[in-house]
Amino acid sequence: MDWTKNSWRNKPIKQQPVYEDQEKLKQVEKELSKYPPLVFAGEVRSLKKDLAKVCEGKAFLLQGGDCAESFAEFDANNIRDMFKVMMQMAVVLTFAGGLPVVKIGRIAGQFAKPRSSDYEEKNGVKLPSYRGDIINSIEFTPEARKADPERMLKAYNQSAATMNLLRAFARGGLADLRKIHKWTLDFVKESPQAHKFEELADRITESLKFMEAVGINPENTPKLRETTLYTSHEALLLNYEEALTRQDSLTEEWYDCSAHMLWIGDRTRDPNEAHVEFLRGVKNPVGVKAGPTMTPEGLLEIIEKLNPENEPGRINIIVRMGADKIENEFPKLLKAVKDAGKNVVWSIDPMHGNTVKTPNGYKTRDFNEVLREVKGYFKVHEEMGTFPGGVHLEMTGREVTECVGGSQEIKECDLERCYETHCDPRLNATQALELSFLIADLLKQAINKNPQI
Ligand code: PEP
Ligand code: CO
Repeated sequence: MDWTKNSWRNKPIKQQPVYEDQEKLKQVEKELSKYPPLVFAGEVRSLKKDLAKVCEGKAFLLQGGDCAESFAEFDANNIRDMFKVMMQMAVVLTFAGGLPVVKIGRIAGQFAKPRSSDYEEKNGVKLPSYRGDIINSIEFTPEARKADPERMLKAYNQSAATMNLLRAFARGGLADLRKIHKWTLDFVKESPQAHKFEELADRITESLKFMEAVGINPENTPKLRETTLYTSHEALLLNYEEALTRQDSLTEEWYDCSAHMLWIGDRTRDPNEAHVEFLRGVKNPVGVKAGPTMTPEGLLEIIEKLNPENEPGRINIIVRMGADKIENEFPKLLKAVKDAGKNVVWSIDPMHGNTVKTPNGYKTRDFNEVLREVKGYFKVHEEMGTFPGGVHLEMTGREVTECVGGSQEIKECDLERCYETHCDPRLNATQALELSFLIADLLKQAINKNPQI
């Protein structure tokens, strides 16, 4: 195969920063390439096996996290809160679907952002756009907006510390099923709007009691107190990705060791350009965002390039059409892939096709529109007799006010109260958990209606 970890450099590329100091860029790349990997090839292979189960309809995928991680929001409590809410969501989904849930965070490396424009203009001043903390800084000054290669080192270090904490949480007690369920019960009991979820929560309580009674508990069963949270991010800044790409000594295969899974954004998925070139050569599971401009032929071409051997668990198509378009645009993609016999994990990103701007300038998303797109996605799968795979969400473990709606009835005028995202609006912890109860219902119905999927 004529691939090397830097063969992407010979291809056209979009959405990249301009580094003025090329010498410094080279030094940083060299230094990063000596740093320890953040994930290991064996873990990446485990994720691929887990995703192969999703492919077969034997597991469900939950992927979620920040739109953009930031240096400013780096805080152990934020990481803990994100971990907690992901675990709660996973338990609810596992119970409803009767399937294991593969958990992947948009975390420990989700820094680089594609932008709709290379420049931002304010009051007649034009500056380069903010591209994520791994590249430049969000303040609107010429100095802040300069791309600085050293930010890659800081992003690496923050990712390493985040990863370290996630590994500790996953093995050190924070994944205890009883504890996770207790937080969910508190949520259901304390919030008057969450009463509608009480029945499902009570059934989980009963199941835990039953297991306890027959002698299965977190003390004697590690599976009830330990978990795996995989990491992922958009592989956008290829200088960073290349520097963290290593050859596995066991298999001689190449792995991008910056995260377990990487995805290609909707704006950089041209099959003849750099991002597809880079990702075709690494063995990690790879996501591909598919927005309304994706054609069936285009999708099959990308799949062929990234997964010529049709390996299950390698490809995740992340559909993000918007609530209005999902039922028209998605069926043709699904049909083409199904008819071609391609093994893919499907998931729905109900966030990026539903972003709107309020009159006072906040980017937001309406909880109902998010839910409407998820429902449309499940409906299309039901009609096609295919497995709905998973969900891909932008969310945080904190009670921010960035998306409107949900049982807290967040309104446009509430957004300014706690609007902290560096990029797109995220579901807060309550909205994320609520959505997972609603998705759990859809998943259960899908499996009941079509048990052989
Ligand atoms: C994202 O996931 O943050 C993103 C930018 O998505 P998309 O490429 O689908 O627009
Ligand atoms: Co986003």
